[in-house]
Amino acid sequence: MGPGGNGGPAMSEPPFDAFRYAHAHRNEVVWMSQNTNHLVPPEIATNAVEAALRERRYEGYPYAQGLPELSDLVRADLRMPADSSVVVSAGGTEALYMLTRALLAPGDEVVASDPSYLIIHRFIELSGARTRNLDIYAPPYRLTAERVQEAVGPKTRMILLIDPLNPLGSGYPPEEVRAIAEIAHDRGLWLVNDVTYRDFADRPTLAYPFAPDRTLTVWSVSKNCGLAGMRLGGLAGRPDVIGPVARFNTNDLGVNILAQVAAVAALRSKSTWFPTVRATSRANQERIRDVVASVPGAQLPVMPSQANMFAIDIAGTGIAPEALQKELLLRDGVFLRAGNYLSPKFGGRFIRASFSNPPEDIAKFAAAFPRAVGALRPSAAAPLP
Ligand SMILES: Cc1ncc(COP(=O)(O)O)c(C=O)c1O
Repeated sequence: MGPGGNGGPAMSEPPFDAFRYAHAHRNEVVWMSQNTNHLVPPEIATNAVEAALRERRYEGYPYAQGLPELSDLVRADLRMPADSSVVVSAGGTEALYMLTRALLAPGDEVVASDPSYLIIHRFIELSGARTRNLDIYAPPYRLTAERVQEAVGPKTRMILLIDPLNPLGSGYPPEEVRAIAEIAHDRGLWLVNDVTYRDFADRPTLAYPFAPDRTLTVWSVSKNCGLAGMRLGGLAGRPDVIGPVARFNTNDLGVNILAQVAAVAALRSKSTWFPTVRATSRANQERIRDVVASVPGAQLPVMPSQANMFAIDIAGTGIAPEALQKELLLRDGVFLRAGNYLSPKFGGRFIRASFSNPPEDIAKFAAAFPRAVGALRPSAAAPLP
């Protein structure tokens, strides 16, 4: 019997919710859709959290500014001076919300890119400002100081510098970071330097030293430390820059203590295990490159990626990214993210794959991707001559 009942009018089906499906089947799904990191030795977080649970630290409120050791570790990780301010929030996401609220007003403009991590654009729009999106779906697949300079106008208040970039995986050379930071300094603009993926890069370059008076560094332990579910990140920078933003911090009673102890344990030991995470991620992306190269109509705009993800361009296959996402998830249990989540203009061309996963996950992708593209290819349905 159809959904409309026997003989009744057919009811329209609710749209397919990939996340609902993937979470419901999480033990069978290969999660390559959210740039999460599944390669960090699990005992680092579990030992720290178990100890905190035994001590029943959840009974009290945490220190509102965040564990002092956490702030110190973040400062050291970002090579910031001891007197710099660190705000600890529920993920970098919340810090991004706070800073757009605090620093932008209706009518302001922010120089940003397309593709991009669009949640930040949504926050910018919530504050009444708008983004000036520069197309970067062409070499060098990132902003350049020259284009940023051209885009700055009388209403510009901020530059969004995500480095490395989600979803393309491109990274900024040090000289470009410096040049963009100098524009922010010279033109009196805020520079939001989102460094969520910096540990995966060959030559990560922080903008802060080039424009400490204008830079807000957004950090996160979701991707480098494999703690996305803990929801912990924040802001760092000079006290006079961070102070006005911290007024918008709603975490007057602190953020989750279990997340903080896990982050402390992970940041403390990161130098011992991150090189292995990085090496495995690099080997994984090479494996994916070979698979993509074997599929006509698919290609990688950016290779190697400086992050733990990249975009796979499938425009030449004639397949819609949403259809491929659904096919891979439902038939193969491999979860990638369709490009429309990341680009208003180019989202119909690509699907994003993250690869800080165990090699067995990548092996599943390697079998699934050619199969799914073959099954959906428009010519597959055409009758054979
Ligand atoms: C560029 C960028 N910034 C921030 C975030 C959010 O990170 P968090 O999990 O710390 O909120 C993401 C998550 O994917 C991201 O891609």
